[in-house]
Amino acid sequence: EKSTVCVVGSINMDLTVSTSVIPNQGETVLGESFATYPGGKGANQAVAAARLGSHVKMVGAVGHDVFGISLKEHLQKEGIDTSSTELIPEQSTGTATIILSNNDNRIIVAPGANRSVTPSYVEKHRAAIEESDIILLQMEIPIETISYVVTIAKELNISVILNPAPYQPLPAAILNQVDYMTPNALEAELFKNDLIDDDLLEKWITTKGEQGSSLYVNGKEVHIPGYPVPVKDTTGAGDTFNGALATQLAQGISIKKAVSFANAAAALSVTEKGAQGGMPTLGEVENFLKERSDEI
Ligand code: RIB
Ligand code: NA
Repeated sequence: EKSTVCVVGSINMDLTVSTSVIPNQGETVLGESFATYPGGKGANQAVAAARLGSHVKMVGAVGHDVFGISLKEHLQKEGIDTSSTELIPEQSTGTATIILSNNDNRIIVAPGANRSVTPSYVEKHRAAIEESDIILLQMEIPIETISYVVTIAKELNISVILNPAPYQPLPAAILNQVDYMTPNALEAELFKNDLIDDDLLEKWITTKGEQGSSLYVNGKEVHIPGYPVPVKDTTGAGDTFNGALATQLAQGISIKKAVSFANAAAALSVTEKGAQGGMPTLGEVENFLKERSDEI
């Protein structure tokens, strides 16, 4: 029996320039190459969860333009239920302009149609939420929408994972009500300045790139090691982690095991270009873990 993950989040077209030099202010440099890839933290997490065997519903919005049409089709090809993904007239599809250079990425998101994912949009697609085992959120849609989804989820007793990226300060009600928060190290640092109650840290899982992740168990920080791999593109590694984590938790797998599995899925994702390139299937993660344990 497949578990159902509902993602309420962004869908972007990634416009990726690979370069070894990053321009300074007022400077022009010659880079290496350009490509477009399907992206958006919401869509990436949806694809990760679907490839790993979840039934996935995507509550999101794209513009009624070339990017929007192709991104929605792409989600369908990945087996994702897009009945709650609308093409919004007169809106441009969200884009992410990505500067990719040696082991680093810098991203500017123009939200476009992702701004149409409002509380009333969610209300219209409420059934998708009600029918899910777990809900996955990020912060490329309006914060009011995140509050709204969290409130519905709590009424229905459905678990929520909030990937608080990109960082924005959050109302205390959200921090209190979500079941899991999954910042990266940079975001975790920023939230520390927001005076987070120590008790709340128990639901925080901080991702630390190839080093792995850490979480708190009974007030103590526990480190779950990552898997060093040859890196082609780190874009979307965090999204792969979140999609994998949701899939595992929806199946009732214990948190430490789920995090370790998600670390492995994220590692595989960085070995190919594009946020969704390299995102593994369940079989691929299992083989990868098996090879690693055979080596020991
Ligand atoms: O997390 C990676 C994603 O962030 C990219 O796909 C880009 O669209 C931005 O949303
Ligand atoms: Na990738």
